[in-house]
Amino acid sequence: MQLILLTVLLCWICQVTSDPTTKTEWQLFKQQYTKHYDTTEDEYRRIIWEDNKRYTEKHNAEAAAGLHTYTMGLNSYSDMKHEEFVKIMMGLKISANPIPGKPFVPTVEVGRLPDTMNWTALGYVTEVGNQGQCGSCWAFSVIGALEGQWFRAQKKLVRLSVQDLMDCSTSVGNEGCEGGFIDKSYKFIRDNHGIDTWKSYPYDAKNEKCRFNNDTIGATCRGYTDIKKGNEDDLYVAVGSIGPVAVAIDAYQESFSMYKSGVYDEPKCTTTRLSHTLLVTGYGKYKGKEYWLAKNSWGTSWGMNGYIMMSRNKNNQCGIASLASYPFV
Ligand SMILES: *[C@@H]1O[C@H](CO)[C@@H](O)[C@H](O)[C@H]1NC(C)=O
Ligand SMILES: *[C@@H]1O[C@H](CO)[C@@H](O)[C@H](O)[C@H]1NC(C)=O
Repeated sequence: MQLILLTVLLCWICQVTSDPTTKTEWQLFKQQYTKHYDTTEDEYRRIIWEDNKRYTEKHNAEAAAGLHTYTMGLNSYSDMKHEEFVKIMMGLKISANPIPGKPFVPTVEVGRLPDTMNWTALGYVTEVGNQGQCGSCWAFSVIGALEGQWFRAQKKLVRLSVQDLMDCSTSVGNEGCEGGFIDKSYKFIRDNHGIDTWKSYPYDAKNEKCRFNNDTIGATCRGYTDIKKGNEDDLYVAVGSIGPVAVAIDAYQESFSMYKSGVYDEPKCTTTRLSHTLLVTGYGKYKGKEYWLAKNSWGTSWGMNGYIMMSRNKNNQCGIASLASYPFV
């Protein structure tokens, strides 16, 4: 039995290898993302990459036929198995006893808000980050929300240190690349009387010893506001009038890891299995579909230069409003 399997596998490998176009593409992929593998791993990674390539091509053919509202594409993670990707790239912890934030109270009527919002265009958002092989999404999201509110208050965009938050907030239960809490992170920054700038405390994609320096603080935080769980109307008012909002989502679907463009719409997404965090930076309508514009922290090879359009007003799809918050400064 094993021998048969092995023979089948080997034949399949030689078939793949014998296709020169594919071989060149694999070389290009490795070059593009500076990947270096020994012979054994190279074969293993190429097979995974091939699988992912076929998966995206099938999806895009269906999308072209009008069956999907979004496309998929290969990115720097396309030689990782989905299980492997999920294990490394997420990292949101959910508090069993959350520290309650200030409840969000809408102060603007929905009808008075603009139909389209894009805080990146208004200067509230720093460049797209890249977690690397580290589950630090939670820190990117909290820092992104604080950068936005700091800009709103100070009219100055300061890139803040994700690594500082990762390294120095272990006392509240955060575990760096192994994951962290949104609520506890705001509390940490408040009690720490600030967070360093990215420039003074750059990102290393690994757990390190805390080296916070209070001479290079970039922003402070007085607390945070909670959007009512699952309420997309309140999220709309917050994003439409306050600034970028940190959100948690169910990102377990393979389609999410290979998202490229268009409005992401995944019926398999749940509102409760929250695994990953994003920064909602706007909203709008694209080809008749309402979307939340969100910044991810998987580099610019993923999605629309690192951004995604998530379905909006589709029953809180992927839990986009299940755990949404922003700090006040
Ligand atoms: C948002 O604004 C940025 C910066 O101007 C721009 O690059 C991006 O395309 C805009 N996104 C959308 C969805 O309009
Ligand atoms: C910075 O830290 C030093 C040494 O711990 C302390 O004396 C000083 O008051 C702190 N400054 C600020 C602005 O918190």
